[in-house]
Amino acid sequence: MIPTKDEAFTILRKHNSDESHIKHARAVEGTMRHFARRFGGDEELWGVVGILHDIDWEKTMSDPARHCNLAPELLRAEGVDEVVIHAVQSHGWGICSDAEPRDDMEKTLFTIDELTGLIITAGLVRPSKSLADLEVKSVKKKWKDKAFAKGVDRDIIQKGADIMGVPLDEVIQETILALRPIESDIGLGSN
Ligand SMILES: [Fe+2]
Ligand SMILES: [Fe+2]
Repeated sequence: MIPTKDEAFTILRKHNSDESHIKHARAVEGTMRHFARRFGGDEELWGVVGILHDIDWEKTMSDPARHCNLAPELLRAEGVDEVVIHAVQSHGWGICSDAEPRDDMEKTLFTIDELTGLIITAGLVRPSKSLADLEVKSVKKKWKDKAFAKGVDRDIIQKGADIMGVPLDEVIQETILALRPIESDIGLGSN
């Protein structure tokens, strides 16, 4: 089955308790929904994939090579459809999984997973602590600053944009637009 949004968050919370991980899921969900509209995809499905993509994160933190590889077991136990399971695995393509992103939904997830982190961090260091006035050019400046959000692998994001067939600047712009309406949910803005 394809879980509803609420069911997906319930499943996620069964295995993850750190609120920062829940917020990451929310950021990726919102971005996936935005790109689903752009690509004419199934917004609910893309959103659920975003929510569940790091389902095994807290259970594999001590052994990162298992990330994406424990997820199928956890999701099958909930009766989640294989379409979601393959998508979840493919976000670790070339890192901890050999499931290659095969369609717009999977390619988008692969690309925006870490990009959301870079954009949120770029928002948090602004005086406004908001994405409302964050522009692509300032994200690009942070992109080039290797010390900024240094856990974010720029090469992975670039590789993702390449397989999506969308210029990097456009992916960044769309991700900023995707995150703006949900910024108060993910620790940004004045709320
Ligand atoms: Fe992940
Ligand atoms: Fe993630």
